[in-house]
Amino acid sequence: MNRPEHRDEFDEPAGKVGMNQPSEEGSGGGGKHLLLFVDDEENILHALRRLFRKEPYEILTAVSAKEGLSLIASKPVSLIVSDHRMPEMEGTEFLAKVRERNPDIMRIMLTGYTDMKAAVEAINQSQVYRYISKPWNDDDLRLTVREALRHYDLVQSNRNLNELVKEQNKELYDINRSLESKVRERTKALEMKNLELEAGFQDMLELFMGLMEMKNPALVGHARRAAVLSKAIAAHLSLPEEEQRICEAAALLMDSGILGYPDSLAKKKIEEMDAVEQALWQKHPLLGQATLKRIKRLEPVGQIIRSHHEHYDGSGFPDRLKGERIPLPSQIVAVSDTFDLLLNPPEATGRASVSEALKALEKERGRRFDPAVVHVVGEIIEKVQETISSDEVKVSLEELKEGMTLARDLKTAGGILLLPAQSRLQTAHLEKIQNFHRIDPIIGQITIYRNVKDFNSSGR
Ligand SMILES: [Fe+2]
Repeated sequence: MNRPEHRDEFDEPAGKVGMNQPSEEGSGGGGKHLLLFVDDEENILHALRRLFRKEPYEILTAVSAKEGLSLIASKPVSLIVSDHRMPEMEGTEFLAKVRERNPDIMRIMLTGYTDMKAAVEAINQSQVYRYISKPWNDDDLRLTVREALRHYDLVQSNRNLNELVKEQNKELYDINRSLESKVRERTKALEMKNLELEAGFQDMLELFMGLMEMKNPALVGHARRAAVLSKAIAAHLSLPEEEQRICEAAALLMDSGILGYPDSLAKKKIEEMDAVEQALWQKHPLLGQATLKRIKRLEPVGQIIRSHHEHYDGSGFPDRLKGERIPLPSQIVAVSDTFDLLLNPPEATGRASVSEALKALEKERGRRFDPAVVHVVGEIIEKVQETISSDEVKVSLEELKEGMTLARDLKTAGGILLLPAQSRLQTAHLEKIQNFHRIDPIIGQITIYRNVKDFNSSGR
């Protein structure tokens, strides 16, 4: 065995930790590095310990490879400096085992100048970081150890960083999954809420229609047809979807203001009203708006209703608005209102043909009505003519549902009147119809009025 350049002046037994406190954390976490020197000659171990006495490391020593292996099994060793020539197990074999058990530990081998075979083995089998010839140069050895430990720290940092990135990626993945799921849940909840709101909106319209129907059934059929036409005009003018819906609802509820009138006035023809009654009747747009104002969703509908009797030339009521100052949806409802009354007047007589009704609108173009809206009616009339010419539909007995309104008397084949026209079907009615049908069948289809929902879907 070659001798070191410096003799050790300490006399500490091998296998003990020297310098300061032992670090169980290892060196990668910021504690002191734990170095293990392995040599069968105590004086070499002393020399090495002495060499690193002032360095910020903790030192372990072992006098055999076996003892060295036992130490790395229980201690967080960062670096080993091992002699090659040892009696029980040579350094190359020892360091190869170390590599096998803990490849992170940096391995440096001390060999004699002439021992080239050991140097080659050290590199090939044990994949040592460096091999150093004996006798070593103190500065070279200190520098080599320092560089090896820097390499060790770098590997540990990279590993920690990779672990951290992996953990963060997993956390991000989990967060994303959770977010996606939350977004899906929230979207579903919003969709459900929208459906509920939509159903609520339709129910509100149905409620008003029901009340108006009780006041004056003729009003409802008229309003339903005007709603179809209004929505079609709005769509043709490319108004936003929401405005189209407002036009439709405003036409349906345009005369809801008469709900507050006594029946005698609600059913009276305008030309038969005296001056006081006419003045009162002219308040219906304001009363309609005031009624709907209490329901937030219907507030914009109320604003349109307020102006559905304004005239383009400023001669209308209640605000005598003129031209573009009249909201476009109100102008649409006004045209639809008049056009349907021309086609379907409350009296059987005086019914205008489509061309006559169009001519009548043309006559009022720029006076009562917005020229652009009148023009659109001429363009779309063919498409909506069938729908607005009738608000009645035929359904089978099986299709009858609660809430439908009969447009004609419902009779059995034997001529028994089960329910008169205008009856709004309730559960008890349906049971009665089914019971009679078993005894005296109802033949053919049943005529009912389209309801608001049917109109909404037909207009889209
Ligand atoms: Fe009106």
